[in-house]
Amino acid sequence: MVCFSSQFYVLLLLLYAVTFHKGACSTNMKLSCNEKDRSLLLLFKHSVKDHSNKLSSWSNGEDCCAWKGVLCDNTTGRVTRLDLNQQYLEGEISLSLLQIEFLTYLDLSLNDFTGLTLPPILNESLPTPSTLHFNSSNLEYLDLSFNEDLHLDNLQWLSQLSSLKCLNLSEINLENETNWLQTMAMHPSLLELRLASCDLVNMSPFVKFVNFTSLLTLDLSGNYFDSELPYWLFNISSGIFHIDLSFNYLKGRIPKSMLNLPNLKSLRLANNELTGPIPEWLGEHEGLQQLVLSENLFEGPFPSTLGNLSSLTELDVSSNFLSGNLTDNIGQLFNLRTLFIGGSLSGVLSEKHFSKLFNLELLALNSGFSFDIDPKWIPPFQLREISLKNTNLGPTFPEWLYTQRTLGALDVSSSRLSSINEDKFWSFVAKIRAINLSFNAISADLSNVTLKSDYIMLVGNNFTGTLPRISANVFFINMAGNFLSGPISPFLCHKFSRKSALGYLDISYNSLTGVIPDCWENWRGLTFLFIGSNKLEGEIPPSIGLLNEIIVMDFKKNNLSGEFSLDLSNMKSLVFINLGHNCFSGVVPTKMPESMQVMILRSNQFSSNFPQQLCNLPSLIQLDLSQNKLFGSIPPCVFNISSKDGERRIRHFGFSIELFWKGRELGYRDTGLLRNLDLSSNNLSGEIPRELFGLTQLLFLNLSRNHLTGNIPMKIGGMKNLESLDLSNNHLSGTIPEAVSNLTFLSYLNLSYNDFTGQIPLGTQLQSFDAWSYVGNSKLCGLPLPKNCSILDVGDRRVQGGANKSQIESLYLGMGVGFAFGLWGVWGSLFLSRAWRHKYFLLLDHVADWIYVFIVLKINKFVR
Ligand SMILES: *[C@@H]1O[C@H](CO)[C@@H](O)[C@H](O)[C@H]1NC(C)=O
Ligand SMILES: *[C@@H]1O[C@H](CO)[C@@H](O)[C@H](O)[C@H]1NC(C)=O
Ligand SMILES: *[C@@H]1O[C@H](CO)[C@@H](O)[C@H](O)[C@H]1NC(C)=O
Ligand SMILES: *[C@@H]1O[C@H](CO)[C@@H](O)[C@H](O)[C@H]1NC(C)=O
Ligand SMILES: *[C@@H]1O[C@H](CO)[C@@H](O)[C@H](O)[C@H]1NC(C)=O
Ligand SMILES: *[C@@H]1O[C@H](CO)[C@@H](O)[C@H](O)[C@H]1NC(C)=O
Ligand SMILES: *[C@@H]1O[C@H](CO)[C@@H](O)[C@H](O)[C@H]1NC(C)=O
Ligand SMILES: *[C@@H]1O[C@H](CO)[C@@H](O)[C@H](O)[C@H]1NC(C)=O
Ligand SMILES: *[C@@H]1O[C@H](CO)[C@@H](O)[C@H](O)[C@H]1NC(C)=O
Ligand SMILES: *[C@@H]1O[C@H](CO)[C@@H](O)[C@H](O)[C@H]1NC(C)=O
Ligand SMILES: *[C@@H]1O[C@H](CO)[C@@H](O)[C@H](O)[C@H]1NC(C)=O
Repeated sequence: MVCFSSQFYVLLLLLYAVTFHKGACSTNMKLSCNEKDRSLLLLFKHSVKDHSNKLSSWSNGEDCCAWKGVLCDNTTGRVTRLDLNQQYLEGEISLSLLQIEFLTYLDLSLNDFTGLTLPPILNESLPTPSTLHFNSSNLEYLDLSFNEDLHLDNLQWLSQLSSLKCLNLSEINLENETNWLQTMAMHPSLLELRLASCDLVNMSPFVKFVNFTSLLTLDLSGNYFDSELPYWLFNISSGIFHIDLSFNYLKGRIPKSMLNLPNLKSLRLANNELTGPIPEWLGEHEGLQQLVLSENLFEGPFPSTLGNLSSLTELDVSSNFLSGNLTDNIGQLFNLRTLFIGGSLSGVLSEKHFSKLFNLELLALNSGFSFDIDPKWIPPFQLREISLKNTNLGPTFPEWLYTQRTLGALDVSSSRLSSINEDKFWSFVAKIRAINLSFNAISADLSNVTLKSDYIMLVGNNFTGTLPRISANVFFINMAGNFLSGPISPFLCHKFSRKSALGYLDISYNSLTGVIPDCWENWRGLTFLFIGSNKLEGEIPPSIGLLNEIIVMDFKKNNLSGEFSLDLSNMKSLVFINLGHNCFSGVVPTKMPESMQVMILRSNQFSSNFPQQLCNLPSLIQLDLSQNKLFGSIPPCVFNISSKDGERRIRHFGFSIELFWKGRELGYRDTGLLRNLDLSSNNLSGEIPRELFGLTQLLFLNLSRNHLTGNIPMKIGGMKNLESLDLSNNHLSGTIPEAVSNLTFLSYLNLSYNDFTGQIPLGTQLQSFDAWSYVGNSKLCGLPLPKNCSILDVGDRRVQGGANKSQIESLYLGMGVGFAFGLWGVWGSLFLSRAWRHKYFLLLDHVADWIYVFIVLKINKFVR
């Protein structure tokens, strides 16, 4: 759990915004600091950009031993430790620090440093870091981790630090330090080495031996290693204790040479592409305490020999392709605290499988198990977290779970539950911080229920009645996809005795009725609000404007009406609004914040010009105004929307956080590029502004069913990302420019019912579309239309000779590029910085950590 605990520490730092208090050395001694040390510290300060004034105590007049983060030896007055983690420091790290003679401990982690510099004095005589001779041979602990924008191409300077025992460079970009392994091997004294998420690529798989004589902990998780497990790893002479290679792309099998590491206590290989069976011989490695092999491609049976590893405290083989039954000797592992099993294992589990698991705290059995357990069974354990999702637990919520009095998280989603003992059940779950009951068929009336968990997932059940009450501590509740009915005002207008913590509310896909009450002052902490797909009516009340932390607002598919004149421009975090499929009327809303990325207003009664103000939203990448009553022409300024310039402002981190939405799986997904402009089915007229065809980032363009005129300019060839183009049912004219065939990703094209003339450009992918893409243009001819072109129609267009061959090639070009296009895309572009990505994946292994993930989402906004 070493790894987890340090991450939790990081989280906690953020959660509670712990400010930095480090006991400076006792001033009773009146020992002022060493002059040389002081001037080296000042040199360091000189290259730091300290916008938050964290180093204000570092002034000339003060004793440097009393400076923030500085610790001196209380007998010699020499500086021994410098601890400045998470101080929002920017600028460069001056290596002058390494000349502080008695410095043993240096922690600059969790800052925003962007580079390393040499101290000027040294720079004159010694030009490169590799030739520097530092006098700090005493440095034992160096932590520069989580300086995300720090890129180090050369770690040679580290070789001067001959006493180094603990080195942490995690979350620093080392992609161009190809020699990292050799450099690290120059430190035989190293005990702990952490290079997690450093963009390392080469693990030197064929190197037989690396001289780590003392290494006890090696963390290389979250890099891009894609080889087999390297030879040197299982040839480390130090008797290594902990190896973490999770979140790489490692292939092949676990080599038997692993048995050469007799002291190995912890082996973490989660999230790789390792194959083969989980070896039976692992059962011979009696010292093993933590074995984490989840999220790989292991197949075959669950090895019964694992039941012999009596030292095991953590066993995680979930998310593999293991099949068959779970051996019941697993119930003998009396030291187990964590047991995570998943995949395609099946069979019947009985009390025997748990008989001696006295110490079990975290249990996940996420596979098709059935249970043959006496309802009166009293388990030997008291769990903190349990996940039985995807099992055949139902139909009745089992009695033995009620014996678990210390549960912090309960996940019984998709486990075929349909009935609960309401008298017991709601008071039982009220004591659990995180509950997930989603995707069952539980029927219960929630009208009189009060939910008290912090995190509540009730998605996709048969819950009926009105919305339940919630207590003020609830900060995540998702009740989407049930049969809840009645007005929402009792829920929303309930007054709490203290501020509600609610950050995420999803009541969409129910049958809620009535108006949206003007009670939003109770919910100022909301960041995600989904109330779509109900039967709500009336106007959106003004107090919604008080939600100034909101990120996502979704009101789609109700009967909401009125002029939407609210001023949302103070919602500085709002990125997504969906008002689609309602009855809003009047002027298209324009008072939107600069942060806005996705605006969906489709299928309403908005009747106005296309507002110029929308062009000024610098981050807008999706705008859907279709099926309204817009009139007038499209202003040329649309070029600002979704333009290249916007891209720089949009943060996309290649991450989809669907999990919080409809319970779908997490995955890497670079969706920040999903750009869409849909103005279809309005009364827009005039020429399509040429500028619009300069939107080179656009993926989807739909201007169909308007009264637009003009022609398609050559310029369209520059819209290289376009996947779908619909200009049908307008009055567009002229020829179809050959440049359209430059749009290599185009998989949907509809130019039908216009006044296009001439020949469809031959020998291009344009022939691979069906004829219906072009019908209703009486003067258009050529394949795929049945109408042949007469010489006149062809005009002076050059007829290409080799048409046949390329015709066939192009037939394939447009095919197979599906464009399932869902709104989940926005999630990808939200909050996660690179630094958090791997953390998320790791954290999500733990059921209760959903909570923390969500908190981080909120907090992350303030961190960056
Ligand atoms: C000096 O520091 C040591 C260890 O940090 C501590 O035990 C000792 O009490 C200190 N002495 C004085 C005089 O503060
Ligand atoms: C050394 O100093 C020169 C000028 O004083 C500066 O341009 C250069 O960047 C410095 N080099 C390093 C590695 O700090
Ligand atoms: C490094 O130490 C040596 C002797 O220990 C001393 O002569 C030299 O001045 C020191 N260099 C610096 C830059 O402090
Ligand atoms: C860096 O690694 C050290 C040693 O393992 C650990 O104690 C420290 O918490 C890590 N730093 C961060 C910011 O996680
Ligand atoms: C690494 O080197 C490549 C090629 O020189 C360069 O494109 C890339 O930006 C470098 N990466 C970093 C982080 O400096
Ligand atoms: C271990 O290292 C030695 C050199 O010290 C080498 O001869 C041997 O082949 C290595 N073993 C493996 C399995 O790589
Ligand atoms: C490994 O390093 C130790 C300590 O520096 C040294 O004594 C030993 O000879 C080295 N072994 C090899 C095989 O290089
Ligand atoms: C798996 O368990 C089921 C039911 O407990 C049993 O019928 C079946 O024979 C077992 N299969 C194996 C391969 O042990
Ligand atoms: C809820 O409680 C009220 C008052 O105690 C009661 O009249 C009503 O029947 C209850 N509704 C349900 C569905 O249990
Ligand atoms: C739950 O709802 C579904 C869909 O309406 C229905 O088919 C099913 O019978 C219901 N189950 C129970 C237990 O009420
Ligand atoms: C179409 O692509 C060709 C070749 O890539 C290029 O020469 C031409 O300029 C492009 N046309 C347009 C209008 O972008």
